[in-house]
Amino acid sequence: MVKECMTFPCSVYLMKAVRMCLRNEENKMELESRVAVVTGAGSGIGRVIAQALAGQGATLILVGRREKRLRETAADCTNGEHDVQVLCLQCDVGVEADVERVRAAIAERFGRCDIAVNCAGVFRPKPGTLLHESDVAAWDAVINTNLRGPWLLLRALTPMMIAQQYGRVINLTSGLKHAAGHGVYSISKSALDALTKTAAQELKRHNILVNALNPGWVRTEMATNAPDDPHKVVPLALRLATLPDGEPSGVEYHV
Ligand SMILES: NC(=O)c1ccc[n+]([C@@H]2O[C@H](COP(=O)([O-])OP(=O)(O)OC[C@H]3O[C@@H](n4cnc5c(N)ncnc54)[C@H](OP(=O)(O)O)[C@@H]3O)[C@@H](O)[C@H]2O)c1
Repeated sequence: MVKECMTFPCSVYLMKAVRMCLRNEENKMELESRVAVVTGAGSGIGRVIAQALAGQGATLILVGRREKRLRETAADCTNGEHDVQVLCLQCDVGVEADVERVRAAIAERFGRCDIAVNCAGVFRPKPGTLLHESDVAAWDAVINTNLRGPWLLLRALTPMMIAQQYGRVINLTSGLKHAAGHGVYSISKSALDALTKTAAQELKRHNILVNALNPGWVRTEMATNAPDDPHKVVPLALRLATLPDGEPSGVEYHV
């Protein structure tokens, strides 16, 4: 009985470890042939996801407004064992012409796009501001970045994904939905969830899986007081980026 108690957990851990190694190897093989665009890649969650995808050999397009920050991420991405290609594109995701430039550059350079990770986001106005106190500039910045941006990118990249009958889209969502005092941001993330679910239904027949990733509360420029390291998001992000065909779509996954 004691023996059983001692050996059973060990074999479970061993099996888990073996499964993780195998999954890691599968991810590597899978991602070496993939082209991935990551928005908000100059900092925080976008940066660690970009680094992780590069670590598995993916070709990367890094998108954000501050070119210097994108270049720093690119330097990290090209540090690893893989000889990865990284393209930095300065872009405001809420601006149609900017997103069209991204689409055109991806089409010209790589001819395909397999993975889109929407990390670009802004958090305004300051917490505690009620909806009726929020200013129009904050509304426009938040809605344009957090909602219009992922829609513009989806609109731009979906024809490529349909042509190749493959796509994995990850939208960074939040636990702040219907949250008093965080109204504008909450509304942007609730609407992003609606976009995720709707696009998932529309695109599943083309083998394009659209899911939401809820990172919890992690320490970034947006959340300087958060308790957790952004790297905790990486395993789930890699899993969603490499979901096998037929896996769920339109789902909110929590770290
Ligand atoms: N941190 C958390 O606890 C937490 C929790 C829930 C959800 N999230 C979500 O996770 C995502 C990543 O946030 P984060 O925590 O990593 O914060 P972050 O470090 O502030 O990252 C946000 C990134 O978005 C970019 N960005 C902002 N506006 C943009 C625009 N209009 N066009 C292009 N890029 C833009 C910023 O770079 P530029 O200023 O250079 O453009 C920045 O690199 C966001 O969608 C956020 O809402 C975060």
